[in-house]
Amino acid sequence: MNVFITRVIAPTGLQLLHDAGHQVTEWKEKRELTPEELVQFCKKHDALLSVGPNKINPAFLSECGHLKVIALHAVGFDNVDLAAATRVKIPVSNTPGVLSNATADTAFLLLLAVSRKAFYLHKTINRGEWGFFDPLANLGFELTGKTLGIVGLGKIGLEMAKRCVGAYKMDVIYHNRHRNETAEKELGAQWVSFDELLSGSDVVSVHTALTPETKGMFNSAAFHKMKSSSVFINAARGGIHNEEDLSRALKDGVIWGAGLDVTNPEPMRPGNPLLDMPNVAILPHIGSATIEARSAMAQTAALNIIAGLNGLHLPNIINPEVYK
Ligand code: DGY
Repeated sequence: MNVFITRVIAPTGLQLLHDAGHQVTEWKEKRELTPEELVQFCKKHDALLSVGPNKINPAFLSECGHLKVIALHAVGFDNVDLAAATRVKIPVSNTPGVLSNATADTAFLLLLAVSRKAFYLHKTINRGEWGFFDPLANLGFELTGKTLGIVGLGKIGLEMAKRCVGAYKMDVIYHNRHRNETAEKELGAQWVSFDELLSGSDVVSVHTALTPETKGMFNSAAFHKMKSSSVFINAARGGIHNEEDLSRALKDGVIWGAGLDVTNPEPMRPGNPLLDMPNVAILPHIGSATIEARSAMAQTAALNIIAGLNGLHLPNIINPEVYK
């Protein structure tokens, strides 16, 4: 059968598709497909392996209801209208687990970078500002014994918590819809309300999905409930924080610092004032950008495509209602 892939992916995934006897078309241009182009390509294919922010919305699904499977090359699925996919009986999968280490590493890296103003201080060297030694300049803070508050303690949040406990013996509090017994048992993590998390954390790290409930949940009101010495980390989705409110909170000293792997919008525009703030570290959405994770994501997505084209249940189905 024919599979359309919206990017060039790691060869491990392609190989699986070829070995299973499928014809693959990869979109090789370094620009996003327009919605019309996506529809045109999908009309000629049986399955879609979607990489990047392609909108899988009712307009797309009304044209491409023939697809036997849509496999996302991502764990996040805020670009997909799952109810609409279920209505047209298309199973959809994601790639959970395989990018947890890489993404947690990114959040941890941002935390360290913010706590020592590392990205900002790096840039001062090239400006010739590394001069006279001032014992009271460039001061960051230490993480040992501080409290980490995780919003969304799933697979990635758990890995972030393990890093913070292992390296710095941080206390962990978390806010989730469901209790995470593994984290409670292994890390002594404690479930708290959202407000308790905001007021009790030295570091707030966001690992939740972007949903109507979490959209903009980090706004001015939330930042004002946080400690003025605290750091906000977001390696999940930019839509979870309000960027204007975050900038103001940082400028006014409402919170101490921020580390972002995700912004709103993406890409972040050059010249954004956040990029020049000393206590801010920003990366261009590289959470899962390791050789290991991207290879495993390509394989996972390919295995879901193969299962779907064989009429089998997808191993990583995210709309299981489709099978009812
Ligand atoms: C994910 O897998 O959701 C990452 O953010 C890549 O988009």
